[in-house]
Amino acid sequence: MTTIPTLEDLEGRLGDLSGKRILVRTDFNVPLDDDGAISDDFRIRAALPTIEWLTERGANVVTASHLGRPKGKPDPKYSMAPVRERLAELAPGVELLENLRFDPGETANDPAFVARLVDGVDGYVNDAFGASHRAHASIVGPPQFVPSAMGRLLQKEVDVLLGLRDKPRHPFVAVLGGAKISDKLGVVEALLGIVDSIVIGGAMCFTFFAARGLPIGDSLFEPDMVDTCKRLLDEASAKGKTIHLPDDITGVDAGGNFATFGNRLGDGCKGFDIGPGSAAAFSDVIMDARMVFWNGPMGMFEDERFAAGTRTVAQAMADTKAFTVVGGGDSAAALAQFKLDDEVDHVSTGGGASLELLENGDLPGLQALRGES
Ligand code: 3PG
Ligand code: MG
Repeated sequence: MTTIPTLEDLEGRLGDLSGKRILVRTDFNVPLDDDGAISDDFRIRAALPTIEWLTERGANVVTASHLGRPKGKPDPKYSMAPVRERLAELAPGVELLENLRFDPGETANDPAFVARLVDGVDGYVNDAFGASHRAHASIVGPPQFVPSAMGRLLQKEVDVLLGLRDKPRHPFVAVLGGAKISDKLGVVEALLGIVDSIVIGGAMCFTFFAARGLPIGDSLFEPDMVDTCKRLLDEASAKGKTIHLPDDITGVDAGGNFATFGNRLGDGCKGFDIGPGSAAAFSDVIMDARMVFWNGPMGMFEDERFAAGTRTVAQAMADTKAFTVVGGGDSAAALAQFKLDDEVDHVSTGGGASLELLENGDLPGLQALRGES
């Protein structure tokens, strides 16, 4: 694998950066509340080291990002205006283009759109780790036309996440949650080759329960993934790996009342979180590990009644001496909600991107920077 150029390499190629126009692809796809205000500016702050490195050298920095999933045409709901306002406070004088996905050329990776993006640009920096699993115009296009580099955030994310694959410390534990196993199938398969054990919570545990023949009441599960879960359980034991499933669950009973169950849920019962016994057992696994990767909440933590499992796991992530990495999205939001985001070693800005990098060891955005697309 050829190496990816850094900011220093870009400076080496372009010479004095003063007055040079540098296009920086950032992932400013931030969560917005109902009033359209930014509810978490983590992704904007995460891009500042790169932006500041460039502005300190006098570069003319133009940032560009997508926000949400507009359908290839302008949509006021996804205007970059709130992001532009926040960016102006954090990095005055830095330009931000309008939402890249207002143009259908972005997701289609249309060469004409790439040409417009690089017009008048001296260099390109990809610091949009969270979007680097998308072969979109602004991610894979510019490196074909202008000197390009990875930014500091992209570099850090790749170092940490590839470090999990290439230099694992044992015991290495993956903690996976969220609703759907179908979203995580590839990464679970890849992780079975790297980790010592996988801890499973979130609604996806019910698909594994079904695979074990345990009754799940009315809990959410994926019927067409039951056989796949059976295969994963067999594969894990054949490889001498452990898949930890919860042995108690909290949720609501057939009458709609809060209840704690064992690992067999009766008719009409619905699970929404791992139970207290499982949360304690999962924390023990995390405390005894030397490396932990966590992606996906253990339950429906937005509802305080069902936040305990996720909170206990988050606290164990903070307390363990293990090297701890949290894949973006909901688990990062949970950590922030519990004010534990400073207590883990690395919180990734990418959800899908971190899973795909762990699974494949590469991303379209990285290939482009290496000149392979
Ligand atoms: C994300 O939030 O995961 C990234 O910004 C990518 O967004 P997308 O899933 O809409 O491509
Ligand atoms: Mg720690």
